[in-house]
Amino acid sequence: MSSVKKANDVVGSLYDFEDIKLSDKMFEKFATRMYELAGVDLPLTPKNHALIRNRIVKLLRRHSLKTYEEYWAILEKGSHEMVQEFISALTTNMTSFYRESNHFDFLQKVLPELAKKFGNDIRIWCAAASTGQEPYTIVMTACETQPELGAAKVRLLATDIDLQVLKKASVGTYEEREMQGLPPLQRSKYFEKVTAKGEEFWRAKDQIHGMIRFAQFNLMSPRYEFQNKFHVIFCRNVLIYFDEETTKKVIDNLVSCLAPGAYLVLGHSESGNVKHPNLKPLSRAVYQKI
Ligand SMILES: C[S@@+](CC[C@H](N)C(=O)[O-])C[C@H]1O[C@@H](n2cnc3c(N)ncnc32)[C@H](O)[C@@H]1O
Repeated sequence: MSSVKKANDVVGSLYDFEDIKLSDKMFEKFATRMYELAGVDLPLTPKNHALIRNRIVKLLRRHSLKTYEEYWAILEKGSHEMVQEFISALTTNMTSFYRESNHFDFLQKVLPELAKKFGNDIRIWCAAASTGQEPYTIVMTACETQPELGAAKVRLLATDIDLQVLKKASVGTYEEREMQGLPPLQRSKYFEKVTAKGEEFWRAKDQIHGMIRFAQFNLMSPRYEFQNKFHVIFCRNVLIYFDEETTKKVIDNLVSCLAPGAYLVLGHSESGNVKHPNLKPLSRAVYQKI
């Protein structure tokens, strides 16, 4: 009887949370904060209102708060953890292995040429790596390029603003449903089955895991200061969340990180916004620095 009562209480409290109203004023505060922190542009539309409401209500529940105003007051105190959690809640992390697969055909084709041009140290940056399917696809593609690559080594820097997804990427362990897009051959060659807490997962083998370094990086940083230039940058399906001004700044910064003759790869739907005097369009959302 008492457990039934408890369950009813829980259901009751879930309904209470669903009923909490997000005013347009609070929406604006959250949207503006996200823009300042991550460049993510969320104009007031019914879709964005529902997005902010649905994602932040989970944080209210997690912290046992009753209103968006209470949550805002805590967020405003600016603790690192709360800010990171807010960013994680409002980023969209959808990704998959071999997404927009023509980009990996392109990479496979140009890697031997890059090795000839830039020597044995090929540096690639994956700048919105999410949960890791994209960086692991890049390094699998590099492995598939042997023996044409010879002694050249590919090193990949995988970054994202969202620490939660980055942590998952660096562990490199996926549920069956997250393996979508990965052909059976690559799955058995580069991943192994592991069991944890009675559940089966797929884990990236050391051969590909060891080629990637993971780090947090915000594309809104005013300057991108890296020791060496990159030979390929993947920055896919993130510019769609930025407005025109932010996109322009990000593209300028990405171009400044490329070696002359190196390549920039954007998401398929993002190429419309790109006009840069040093970028020559090559194929769908692929550019070369001139
Ligand atoms: C839709 S996912 C795209 C993932 C992957 N690039 C792909 O194409 O499958 C967008 C990613 O961009 C990241 N992101 C959003 N704003 C960012 C910023 N200002 N700096 C770096 N990463 C950001 C999000 O955390 C998210 O993981």
